[in-house]
Amino acid sequence: EQEEEEEEEEEKEEDTNNTTDSSSEDDDEEEEGDPVEAADVRSAEEEKAVEAVQDKAPEKMLTKELCNKRKPQPAVFIPVDRLPEIQAARLKLPVLGEEQVIMEAVRENMCVVLCGETGSGKTTQIPQFLYEAGYASGDGIIGITEPRRVAAVSMSQRVAMEMNMSTRVVSYQIRYEGNVTSDTKIKFMTDGVLLKEIQKDFLLQKYRVIIIDEAHERSVYTDILIGLLSRIVPLRRPMKLLIMSATLRVEDFTENKKLFPRPLPVIKVDARQFPVTVHFNRRTPTDDYVGEAFRKICKIHRMLPPGGILVFLTGQAEVHSMCRRLRRAFPFRSNRTGLGGSLIYLNLNHFCIYKLNISPFGDEDRQAGIGDEEDGSDLDLELGDDPGDEGLEKCDPMLPLYVLPLYSLLAPEQQGKVFRPPPAGTRLCVVATNVAETSLTIPGIKYVVDCGRVKKRFYDRVTGVSSFRVTWTSQASANQRAGRAGRTEPGHCYRLYSSAVFSDFQEFSEAEITRRPVDDLVLQMKDLNIEKVVNFPFPTPPSMEALVAAEHLLVSLGALEEPPRVRSAKDMERVRLSCPITPLGRAMAAFPVAPRYAKMLAMGKQQGCLPYVITLVAAMTVREIFEETDRPAASEEENAKMAQRRARLGQMRRLWAGQGASLLLGDLMVMLGAVGACEYAGCTPKFCQENGLRYKAMLEIRQLRGQLTTAVNAVDPEARLYLDAKMAPPTESQVLCLQQIVLAGLGDHLARRVQVEELLDPKWHNGYKTPLLDSPVFIHPNSVLFKTLPDYVVYQEVLETSKMYMRGVSAVQEEWIPQILPRYCHFGPPLEDPPPRFCPDSGRVKCHCKSTFFRVGWPLPAVERD
Ligand code: CDP
Ligand code: MG
Repeated sequence: EQEEEEEEEEEKEEDTNNTTDSSSEDDDEEEEGDPVEAADVRSAEEEKAVEAVQDKAPEKMLTKELCNKRKPQPAVFIPVDRLPEIQAARLKLPVLGEEQVIMEAVRENMCVVLCGETGSGKTTQIPQFLYEAGYASGDGIIGITEPRRVAAVSMSQRVAMEMNMSTRVVSYQIRYEGNVTSDTKIKFMTDGVLLKEIQKDFLLQKYRVIIIDEAHERSVYTDILIGLLSRIVPLRRPMKLLIMSATLRVEDFTENKKLFPRPLPVIKVDARQFPVTVHFNRRTPTDDYVGEAFRKICKIHRMLPPGGILVFLTGQAEVHSMCRRLRRAFPFRSNRTGLGGSLIYLNLNHFCIYKLNISPFGDEDRQAGIGDEEDGSDLDLELGDDPGDEGLEKCDPMLPLYVLPLYSLLAPEQQGKVFRPPPAGTRLCVVATNVAETSLTIPGIKYVVDCGRVKKRFYDRVTGVSSFRVTWTSQASANQRAGRAGRTEPGHCYRLYSSAVFSDFQEFSEAEITRRPVDDLVLQMKDLNIEKVVNFPFPTPPSMEALVAAEHLLVSLGALEEPPRVRSAKDMERVRLSCPITPLGRAMAAFPVAPRYAKMLAMGKQQGCLPYVITLVAAMTVREIFEETDRPAASEEENAKMAQRRARLGQMRRLWAGQGASLLLGDLMVMLGAVGACEYAGCTPKFCQENGLRYKAMLEIRQLRGQLTTAVNAVDPEARLYLDAKMAPPTESQVLCLQQIVLAGLGDHLARRVQVEELLDPKWHNGYKTPLLDSPVFIHPNSVLFKTLPDYVVYQEVLETSKMYMRGVSAVQEEWIPQILPRYCHFGPPLEDPPPRFCPDSGRVKCHCKSTFFRVGWPLPAVERD
């Protein structure tokens, strides 16, 4: 046995030697001991860690003192040279009072949980404590994960500023960008980024401390990271793990024997929270919560003393329509400011406010992000110098309202504005989605208006249908929202629902992992050699159904090996959930996109299609690249304008879709055309605005294309791809090839048009049948294939709105199906009696009527059973 082990280690050594190129950066930093020996230790440890992650009895593993050749670092104090005003502001934060307790707990324990109200200073201060205590002075750095990109970027900038240090030292890395250097000591990143790093270096050798922030949000990656780190940290003594949460509900981590055999120490920081008076609505809540919120804001603004207002709505469209309404309701009125001495200042102010309140474009229909970006940047320039408060008390009692939107898709510069003081003589009003609930603390908020709803993506595990639904939020979230009002002085929270409704809310929001498909996670884990994903120490495990569905999809994509045939159902369960990864699966896992898209990339090297596949995958991964034109209009006038705009954008889409063969690539061709046209035009905000594209999405696509090009070159050095942003349209044969590649990736999203002879129910008119759904799905009127109605299509997803609509539709030729997706077809005589409305054999394809694709009823996906 020993011999075997030795052999294996030798192999590993070779591996590491081969990859010295990529890890040379790290070697520079940690020049200690013999590098070969270090690599040796690493692989043995790594293996133990991987074993630990899928071992059913972790207690044994964890309590055993495991190898670590590094000595704990002596305690040191690294001085930080902060500006006096920053130091003064820090001292007011609740966590400062607990610094000693926190640092002692960290010194004595491997893992510590820290709970503290939002705004108590966790995110900005804890990394600084650790830095000062010397945790970043050796060969390791401090890493902090955030579930949201906004938070990673803005917090790294804030901490760099507070510490008076360069962003070379306090840096961030998010999916699309980062400013990490070899000098980086504190690194903010999204949780997905750290997960990817674990793939390259299972033991996270680079890090001395990992902080998991916002653990209460229970984002999928956060959950997985905690599971992995529960095994990695004991093997990496003296590495430290800090889990930070804004709520006290941390039992899923601390009391979870599967995760940590002994309960974790929990430190609670009492926030200096001012009392918040909660006002419930007496009336029964109506569905027009946006209207109610609007009236409430008007009332607050007219009648209550100064203090910022924060409004919680559910989505981007609502946020924008509310901002417009507010700006219209409280415009600048020049005749109401009869002021003496400070006239110039006030004029200056009001000039800006004028620009803000009355849309500078005169076109109310200018939408999301882009329009605001322009008005915003002007404004910053002019308001850079705060004219001070002089003379303002003489101002009209009705202050101008400084309205700012805040949601996660908003451009970062825009988001940053909420942290800056509003222009003098105005009242701040932030209209936000639940981003403002915990990750970002907006200063100066005194009034919170809470609609009590949240928009969530619901995903049906069985049918794969997603829908966004607005539902009541949880009690914990509602209380978080209320808490935002009491940060700087006593505040008020206006809930647009009654206390009876509140008591019906669920207590906490459930973990995200229980609400979404897990195929990407399963693939990532398999790539980490965690074959038995069922045994993984999830803080909250996903349902068995979801795990089985994920494994099933991955097997059909060829990423996992087929499970061996077994007799009993019990054995079936066992083998089905521990399929090892295939070489194709490894390649797919190297691409930072969903497995279906990764498959397309892996298949893309045909007829020079790779650049197109990369662009398509980037466009499909960056969601919502087109401006939304279906939102309900506020007025007749707006409605007419929107119809006009819709018509124009429809025209553009048809143009991008091209003609002939390319038209059959459908909505995917539109995406390709849109990106191509946008790049040709230099990817300017103006072009995007005029053509209904979301500027931020276009930038993200460009970045993701770069990233995917690098990834493809890494997997297949022979590809020698380079990114040429401007690409020529694909040729006809390339389009055909692209269609087939898309079919290979989206095979389980195949839909067949219901033929006239099968039509029994009129609701099926123009409908499509999919393997998992009983009801028809349709091509959306916005799709370029809406009128074409091909016999077979694949779709990106089904989204349920007024009907079940397929999004991202592309046509498929039926002859391809048995060749590209044999797994989904049944060859041979029908498995059971054909249903009465069995489609007659057209004779075009050999397996035609024998294939389940031709059955009206389409039972569960046809897996060959013989
Ligand atoms: O993480 P936690 O919610 O506990 O608090 P934090 O994000 O560390 O924020 C601490 C304080 O810094 C809050 O009062 C924020 O308003 C302030 N802050 C700021 O003024 N500007 C930023 N960009 C970030 C935080
Ligand atoms: Mg925080």
